[in-house]
This record gives sequence, structure tokens and C-alpha cells, in this order.
Amino acid sequence: MAGVSEAGKPQQTMADFGFFSAVRLVRPFFRRYRLRLLVGLLALLAVDFLQLVIPRIIKGAVDLLASGAASETLLVDKALLILLVAAGIAVSRFLWRYLVLGFSRLLERDLRDWLFSHLLRLDYPFFQKKPVGEIMALATNDLAAVQLAGGMGLVAAADACIMSLAALACMAYISLPLTLLTLLPMPLLALLTRVLSRRIHKGFTRVQHQFSKLTEFARSTIANIHLFKAYGRTAAQIRGFDYLGRAYVRDNVRLAAVHGTLFPLAGLVGNLSLFLVLFFGGRLVIVQKISIGDFVAFVSYLYMLTWPMMAIGWVANLFQRGVTSLGRINEVLIARPQLVGPEAPLAPPAAVGEIEVRNLDFGYEGQERPVLQNINFQIKAGEFVGVVGKTGSGKSTLCNILARLYPVAGEAFFWGGVDVNQLDLAAVRSSIAYVPQEVVLFSRSIAANIAFGKPSASQAEIEEAAAICGIHDEIMAFADGYQTMVGEKGVKLSGGQRQRIALARAVLLKRSVVIIDDSLSAVDMETEQAIIQALARYFVNRTCIVVSHRIAPLKNADSILVMADGAVVAQGRHGELMARNSFYATICRQQRVDLSHGEEGHHA
Ligand SMILES: Nc1ncnc2c1ncn2[C@@H]1O[C@H](COP(=O)(O)OP(=O)(O)O)[C@@H](O)[C@H]1O
Ligand SMILES: [Mg+2]
Repeated sequence: MAGVSEAGKPQQTMADFGFFSAVRLVRPFFRRYRLRLLVGLLALLAVDFLQLVIPRIIKGAVDLLASGAASETLLVDKALLILLVAAGIAVSRFLWRYLVLGFSRLLERDLRDWLFSHLLRLDYPFFQKKPVGEIMALATNDLAAVQLAGGMGLVAAADACIMSLAALACMAYISLPLTLLTLLPMPLLALLTRVLSRRIHKGFTRVQHQFSKLTEFARSTIANIHLFKAYGRTAAQIRGFDYLGRAYVRDNVRLAAVHGTLFPLAGLVGNLSLFLVLFFGGRLVIVQKISIGDFVAFVSYLYMLTWPMMAIGWVANLFQRGVTSLGRINEVLIARPQLVGPEAPLAPPAAVGEIEVRNLDFGYEGQERPVLQNINFQIKAGEFVGVVGKTGSGKSTLCNILARLYPVAGEAFFWGGVDVNQLDLAAVRSSIAYVPQEVVLFSRSIAANIAFGKPSASQAEIEEAAAICGIHDEIMAFADGYQTMVGEKGVKLSGGQRQRIALARAVLLKRSVVIIDDSLSAVDMETEQAIIQALARYFVNRTCIVVSHRIAPLKNADSILVMADGAVVAQGRHGELMARNSFYATICRQQRVDLSHGEEGHHA
């Protein structure tokens, strides 16, 4: 699919995203399907041309009848001609519908692909700011509006232009003064359209915004339904949903009211013209300037002009919606990942797994106080490092940074002695296996969940990883073993089972750096200790950073970082910290950690 590389240029600022910005954005897609569009518009042209022929045939017939020269055969000829023209119209109409409306679907698909692939290139922080429901609304409602504008809108605009020009030409051919007369009310229409379309734009922005709120509300409720039930909040959610639904309807009705004035007003202007034609055109017939046939044909043409006039309002509305929606999509398209590797990355360092953090400060966007302050530590390749600290002390934030999910300033994070910003992002990530604190399992088999990072993994590899994480026997106890499907969000598994499967997913990758963020919190203490012991063999020659709220599993670590309030307040081995750090000693006492064997590292 060429959609991604050949996509258009998003407008770089959010302000004033107008018609021309929209055109720039979608131009490449129009170019891609130009043949289809060309043939489709030609078919449209044919329909319009053939439609214009009909009044001429009628004029011939009327003039024949009026002059008394009509014979049965002549009339049959005219009737047959009309049938032929009608058949031509039918075929051409099918063609343009098929081609141009098909184009609008292709445009929609390409934009959707572009949006999706762009979203996947954005950083993790972006998604913490943008609710999923809002993104879903972009991919549904907004793309639908663009599709309508690019399909029916385009057709109606082209049709209105062709029809009005052609009808005007035919009318002018009959009588130029009469034609000019009928055009008198037109500027009025243009003015009306301009004023109203601005209000339509505003109204539509509001409607789309309401819709994304509604979508997000429904998503977050359904995704967390157990919580709403447990807390007896379902009735409140239903009321909340109803409230948002009402707001959506209210804004929609307001929009319809604005939109609704456009149509009748356009119709009124058309009828104003008809009034002029009947009055002045009739007089031209009386003074025999034009024939009755001409008069009838003229009125037919005027009717043909009424539709384009009405279409102006409709098309303006469709385009407004399309442009508004494209503007919302553009907002996402101009978002750039902050975390990108350098243009010319340095060669990967020899000492993979050697990590140094120097004077690192880090704050989340929009927060005043930095979450991490002046963090300093060094980890040698192959070390087992524990991280302890109260909740909120910044352990997970540190893990996210070490796993390269958040950008860091230069000269703060070194990877094998090299500033990590100088290295290829994908290369760094591919030497890390990260187990985030919050477990995510997919609705697939257990095997597929474990092999997530390496879908080509063999059954033996999967089982080995599971065994290391102490979950193999439990998986085998399921009737379907490794093929057991994990239910939507893994409801069939216990918290501890889910955590160990998530751990096995990382273990399977055999990466040189392993980051485990409190991933065994839901298993009992003995099991955690047993798993960490089983992992010890696996940890040899790998740099392992293990966050745990329990100290016991970290007793054998080469080094333990003690975090408090966003800072590393102490670092050392278990025994040293017990002796030196009262904060650490207090935690140990609370957890009744056996003080006897603290000194040996895990290699011992
Ligand atoms: N995505 C986020 N946006 C803003 N603040 C955050 C985010 N994640 C965590 N924090 C804040 O950062 C601090 C440290 O959180 P965290 O790293 O999760 O601590 P820990 O893992 O030690 O419990 C907390 O005060 C928390 O409120
Ligand atoms: Mg945490």
C-alpha cells in the first residue's frame, strides 16, 4: 500500500485549517485515483449533456404541435429519441456513481490507513493525553464526513457547475436578456451561503466534539464495566450517557436549524427567478420574440438551474463538514513523536547492558514539579539491580524512561557509555525486555501472548520461558494447555497468573537488558521469591532491573536503589543499606526480612 509514503502534507498549525489546507492534505489521493475520477466526471458530464438534450426534444415536439405539422410518425420519433437519451443517462449515471463514490471510499480507506500508521508512530505520552474514544471518533464520524465530501460533495459540486453553466448557455441561446434577468437574484444566494456556511462550520465542530465525548464515555464505561457494577454506578453512567446524548442531539438540531434555512432560502431564490421568467418571458412570447417551444424549454432549463442553486447550500455544508473533520484529523497528523532516533545514529556500543543515569530530571508534560529529580546511578553490564521505594516515588516512571518510552534530555542517560539520544531508537529498544507494571494480555491463546515479541518462537521456547516464570505447570493444568484462550482482558486468569505470563513474554526474548516493574506483586511472597530464584540463572550475563515493593526477593541483588519522592536516596547492597540507611532498615523490619544472608551477589 502506497498510502503512507505518498500521503499529503498536513497543515502544520492547527489554526485556520480551511478549504485550501484540506485540499493540500488530500491532493495526493486525488492524484492517485485520477483516471477513475476523470472517467467518473466525464460520465457525469454525459448525464448533464443528455439531460439538456431533453428540453430541446420537447421544444421540437411542442413547436410541431403548435404549428399543426405534427404527425404520428414524427411524434414517435421524438418519443423514441427521448427513450434513447434516457437510456444513455441511466448508463452514465451508473458509471459516475460507481466510479466517483467508489473513489470516496478509497479516499476514506487511504486516510484511515494513514491515520492509523501515523498514530502508531506517535509516542506513548501522546496517548496518555488523547482519550481512545476521541481517536475512535476521528476514525469513524470524521472520516465519514470526509468521505461524504469527497464523494457526494464532489459530485454535487461538479454537477452543479456543469449543469448551471450548460443550462445558462442554453437559456442564453434562447434569449440573452431573459437569462440575465433570471440571474438577478443569484448574488443574494451567494451571500446567504457564505454567512450560513460559517455558522455551519462552527456548529459541526461542536457536534463532532460532542460525539467524541460520547464515544469516549461509552468506551471507558464498557471497558471497566466490573468497576461500575461493583460500585453501583451503572445507573449514574446511564444518566451520564443520556446527558451526553442529549447534548449531542441538541447541537445536531441547532446545526440542522442553520442548515435547514439554507435549503428553503435557495429554493425561494429559484422561484423568484421563475416569477421573473413567467412574467417577462411570457411577454416575449406574446410579442413573438420567442416561440412557445422556446418558452417551455426555457422554463425547463430554469428548473435545471434550481437544483444547482439548491445544491450550493448542500455542497457548502458537505464541504464544511469535510473540512472541519479533516482539520480534526490534521491535528493528529501534525503531532510528531518527540522520541525519535538521530538522523545518523552512532554504532551500537560494545558494552550493551551498561547503563548510567547522570543528573536526570524528568517531569510529565503539564506538571509543575518534576517527578524525578537529579537521579544518578550506574549499572554494570550483567548486574542485577533492585529498585525499592514507596508507591509514587517514581519507580515506574524510571522504568518507562529506561525502556525508552519517554524522551529524555541529552547527557542524562548513557547506554554503554554513549548518550542514548545518539543511538538508534529501535536498536536500543530491541536489546530491552520490559515488563510494565500493568499487565496487558490480548484475547488470544496463552502461547500467542507469551510469543508476542517473537511470533516465530517455537513451542519449546515458549514452554521454557513459562517454566522460568513458574507458570508452566499451571498452564498445563488447563484443558487446552498453551492453546487456552485468554478471555477478553484475561478474565479467566488470576492476577498472579497474568503477571507471570507477562513476565514469560519478556523472558522469552532473551534480551541483554531486562526491566521488571513490580511484576510479581500479585503472587504470594514465597512464589515471588521462588520465581526470582529461578530467574537468577536466566539473569546471569543480563542486566536486570527489578522493581519490587517487597525487599526479600532483592536481597541478593548486586545493588539496590532506594527511591523516595522522585530521588534515589540510597544505593548499595542489602547488607550495606541495612546498616546505613534507616529508611531501608525500617522497610525491612516492617517486612520482617531475614537479615542473615545479604552480602553475596547473585553470581556468588
Ligand atoms: N502519565 C503520568 N502523567 C503524569 N503524572 C504521572 C504519570 N505517571 C505517574 N505520574 C506521577 O509521577 C509520580 C511517580 O509515579 P510512578 O512512577 O508511577 O511511581 P511508582 O511506580 O513508584 O509508584 C506520581 O506522583 C504520579 O502521580
Ligand atoms: Mg509503579
